[in-house]
Amino acid sequence: MKLHQLLASTTIAALMLLWHTGSIADSAKKTLDEEQMAHKDCAGCHVTINPGIVKQHLDSPHANPKKVEDEVRCHDCHGTNHKTMDDYAKAEMPTAETCGECHKKQMKQHKNGKHNLGWLVMKSQIAWHGQPGAITQQGYRGCSGCHKIGEKGLMGVTDGNMEATPKSDGGKEASKYRYGNAQCDACHTRHSFKASEAADPRACSNCHMGFDHPQWEMYTSSKHGIVWGIEGHEEGERAPTCQTCHLMEGDHEVRTPWGFLGLRIPIKENVLALIDVAPSLKEPLTNLAAALPSGNYMDLDDDPQWTFDRALILQAAGVLDASLQPTERFVEQVSLRSRDVF
Ligand code: HEC
Ligand code: HEC
Ligand code: HEC
Ligand code: HEC
Ligand code: HEC
Ligand code: HEC
Ligand code: HEC
Repeated sequence: MKLHQLLASTTIAALMLLWHTGSIADSAKKTLDEEQMAHKDCAGCHVTINPGIVKQHLDSPHANPKKVEDEVRCHDCHGTNHKTMDDYAKAEMPTAETCGECHKKQMKQHKNGKHNLGWLVMKSQIAWHGQPGAITQQGYRGCSGCHKIGEKGLMGVTDGNMEATPKSDGGKEASKYRYGNAQCDACHTRHSFKASEAADPRACSNCHMGFDHPQWEMYTSSKHGIVWGIEGHEEGERAPTCQTCHLMEGDHEVRTPWGFLGLRIPIKENVLALIDVAPSLKEPLTNLAAALPSGNYMDLDDDPQWTFDRALILQAAGVLDASLQPTERFVEQVSLRSRDVF
C-alpha cells in the first residue's frame, strides 16, 4: 500500500471514529456529505494531518451558522486547487478580502482604520530594513509579528507636501509572502474565528504591550483593568475593556475614541438636538450641523451641557468661531482629514 492510499483509508477510519464521538459528531453530520467523505475531501484528509485544525473548524461558528445553508467550508477560504498529499503549495491563503466576501462591513471598517496601515508604518522605519531576513520575512519575528496586522503592499504616496495617501501596489508585495496576509486572524485566531475571543481585552495584549506602547500594562494596572480582572470577563460587566472604548458598536475601524485631548467634533444629530435647549441659537446651530458628519454615538454625546462645554474648547482652539461656525482651520484640519481627530 502506498502512503497516500494508507492515509486515505486511515482518513475514513478516523472520520468514522470522530463521527461517533462528542461534539464533533453533531457538526460532522451536517458538514460531511458523501462526496466529502471521499478521500479527496479537505477535512477528511486533514483530520489525519492536522486534527486540531479540523476540530477547531467543526466547532467554530463557520461550521455551525444560524442557517445551515450558510455553512463555511475549508475551500471557501483556501480554494479547491490543492487536492492531494503533494500539491499543497496550490492551496490559497486567505486575505482580509477573502473574509470580506462574506463580511463586507467589517472588512471595509478595518481597511479604513490604522490597523490596516500597520505594515506600511513598520517599513517606514530604518530599524526594520536593517533586520536579517529570518526576522523580517515569513517568520514574523521582531517587528513583523505585531505589524502583520497591516495590509502588505501599501505605499505612502506624497504629492510634495507632508500628507501621504496610501496606495496599493496591486498585490505585488503580498504575493511574495505566502503567510500572514490574513490580518483578521490577529484578533479572531484560526480556525475557531470567534467574536467572543476578539471581544476579550487579552486579544489585544500580545501587541499593545512593552515599553513603547504599554497599553496592556496601563489597562491592567488601572482601576478599569483591575475591576475587569477581579469581577470577571463577561460582556456587560462593570469595567470597560479596550473594545468598549476602541471598537464602539463593533466598529472595526478601531479608533482612538475621543481625539487628541479628549476633544471630539460633535456629530450632526447632537448639534441639532441643542436647538431644543437653546432655541435662540437655531440659525448658527443649523449651519454648523450642515458641516458635520452624521454619527451613531448618541449615548456619549447626548448631554447638551457637555456638548456646549466642548464647543467652548473648540472655540478656544480656533476651530469654531465666536458664533459657533466652522473656521477655515476646521475645514482644513477636521472636515478634510478625518471625522473627529485633529
Ligand atoms: C489527500 C490528502 C489531502 C487532501 C484531500 C487535502 N489536503 Fe490540504 N494538505 C495536505 C498535506 C499533506 C498538506 C501539507 C501539510 C503540512 O505541511 O503540514 C496540506 C496542506 C494544506 C494547507 C496549508 C498549505 C501551506 O502552504 O501551509 C491548506 C491551507 C490546505 N492543505 C487546505 C486544504 C483544502 C482546502 C483541501 C480541500 C480542497 C485540502 N487541503 C485537501 C493533504 C491534503
Ligand atoms: C463564505 C462566507 C464566509 C467567509 C469567506 C468567511 N466567513 Fe466568517 N462567517 C460566515 C458565516 C456564515 C458566519 C456565521 C454567521 C451565523 O452565525 O449565522 C460567520 C461568522 C464569523 C464570525 C462571528 C463568529 C461568532 O463568534 O459569532 C467571525 C469573527 C468571522 N466569521 C470571521 C471570519 C474571518 C476572520 C474570515 C476570513 C479568514 C471569515 N470569517 C471568512 C461566513 C464567512
Ligand atoms: C509587541 C508588538 C510590536 C512590535 C514587536 C513592534 N511594534 Fe511597532 N507598534 C506596535 C503597536 C501596538 C503600535 C501602535 C502604538 C500606539 O499607537 O501607541 C506600534 C506603532 C509603531 C509605529 C508608529 C506608527 C504610527 O502610526 O505612528 C512605528 C513606526 C512602528 N510601530 C515601527 C516598528 C518597528 C520598526 C518595529 C521593529 C523594530 C516595531 N514597530 C515592533 C506593536 C509592535
Ligand atoms: C474562514 C476561513 C478559513 C476556513 C473556513 C479554513 N481556514 Fe485554514 N486558514 C485560514 C487562515 C486565515 C489561515 C492562516 C493563513 C496565513 O497564515 O496567512 C489558515 C491556515 C491553514 C493551514 C496552514 C496551517 C496554519 O494554521 O497556518 C492549514 C493546513 C489549513 N488552514 C487548513 C484548513 C482546513 C483543513 C480547513 C477546513 C477544515 C480550513 N483550513 C478552513 C482560514 C480558514
Ligand atoms: C483589532 C481586533 C480585530 C480585528 C483585526 C478584526 N476583528 Fe472582527 N471583531 C473584533 C471584536 C472585538 C468583535 C466583537 C464586536 C462586538 O461584539 O461588539 C469582532 C466581531 C466580528 C464579527 C462578528 C460581528 C457580529 O456582529 O456578530 C465578524 C463577522 C468579524 N469580527 C469579522 C472580522 C473580519 C472579516 C476581520 C478582518 C477584515 C476582522 N473581524 C478583524 C475584533 C477584531
Ligand atoms: C497583531 C498585533 C495587534 C493586535 C492583536 C492589536 N493591535 Fe492595535 N495596533 C497594532 C499596530 C501595529 C498598530 C499601529 C498601526 C499604525 O500605526 O498604522 C495598532 C494601532 C491601534 C490603535 C490606533 C492607535 C492610534 O494611534 O490611533 C488602536 C486604538 C488599537 N490598535 C487598538 C487595538 C485593540 C483595542 C485591539 C484588540 C481588540 C488591538 N488593537 C489589537 C497591532 C495590533
Ligand atoms: C475607558 C476607555 C478606554 C479603555 C478601556 C482603553 N482605552 Fe485606549 N484610549 C482611550 C482614550 C480616551 C485614548 C486617548 C485618545 C487621545 O488622547 O486621543 C486612548 C488611546 C489609545 C491608543 C493610542 C495611544 C497613543 O499614544 O496615541 C491605543 C493604541 C490604545 N488606546 C489601545 C488600548 C488598548 C490595547 C486597551 C486595552 C488594553 C485600551 N486602549 C483600553 C480610551 C480607552
